[in-house]
Amino acid sequence: DESELRAVFEATIERHDRIEPRDWMPEAYRKTVIRQVAQHAHSEIIGMQPEGNWITRAPSLRRKAILLAKVQDEAGHGLYLYSACETLGVSRLELTEMLINGKQKYSSIFNYPTLSYADVGTIGWLVDGAAICNQVPLCRTSYGPYGRSMIRICKEESFHQRQGYELLATMMRGTDEQREMVQESVNRFWWPALMMFGPPDDDSPNTAQSMAWGIKRNTNDDLRQRMVDMTVPQAKALGVTLPDPELRWNEERQSHDFGSPDWDEFKDVITGNGPCNTQRIAHRRRAHEDGAWVREAAMAFAARGAEA
Ligand code: 3HC
Repeated sequence: DESELRAVFEATIERHDRIEPRDWMPEAYRKTVIRQVAQHAHSEIIGMQPEGNWITRAPSLRRKAILLAKVQDEAGHGLYLYSACETLGVSRLELTEMLINGKQKYSSIFNYPTLSYADVGTIGWLVDGAAICNQVPLCRTSYGPYGRSMIRICKEESFHQRQGYELLATMMRGTDEQREMVQESVNRFWWPALMMFGPPDDDSPNTAQSMAWGIKRNTNDDLRQRMVDMTVPQAKALGVTLPDPELRWNEERQSHDFGSPDWDEFKDVITGNGPCNTQRIAHRRRAHEDGAWVREAAMAFAARGAEA
């Protein structure tokens, strides 16, 4: 009966083991995993827009090939994550409609415009860097298909981060104008990158439950701190400054103190009022509508095949 099933579920969570699609799970667990995995998938797909913006204008064939590969990887990450989500009984079509209708979110970071080519490097270095900080612990998330999708995604994410860092390092060895372009880009993306980790723990309605169920292995603030501590030495090596006057090493804590992101701006962005929200969703809606005939043709073909 249900109490025995619940006991099995709780024992599995307790020993940090995996919950699999056919296992019994509390409805609220299923719901919050669908919410997080779907929004993670949406982030990957929407993220193709700001990055893709520079494919036709990359400064060399090598940079164009790298950026193409990265944007294609993001589409693949979206696919893995939608597939992981479908194991919980929800269809990709439903999820796409919830994204387009604003009923589900995607990462705030992709509502900022990519105004210069240096942004391609900064997104790789800071945004994929933040994604790595957040996604490595998710390899051990309690929902099986989600954790396994993360293992493959994290391998590709490391390439994304490294190519971004290398791009910026190359520009920093260039002209003064290139160095200024990099610094201006870092100034624009630093705080939005820290917002990717979510609101402060004491303002995060989902964190406590997600930690109790092993969906999250670290809290928002833990991972944000990890990102700051990982990035400061890299910024020094690059020769860029991070735009936070309160950033300093704290010997006692053995980590960096830093200022606070603008949480009003964050709330604006996640409620749809960021710089690019409207255009991102309009673009996604158009792609979905333009692709309808392909889906219909594939379904018709599959149905014909079933009759034959
Ligand atoms: N952008 C948009 N919405 C956000 C957000 C962000 N950066 N941070 C938090 N939110 C939303 C939450 O979704 C939640 O709203 P909801 O209840 O409607 O879903 C609300 O703000 C409160 O936040 P919580 O901290 O309570 O929510 P979570 O416990 O879900 O934590 C999270 C938020 C840390 C983003 C967590 O969901 C998570 O770790 N998700 C998986 C990682 C992810 O989505 N990464 C996307 C990064 S982009 C990317 O990976 C592409 C890369 O390849 C470049």
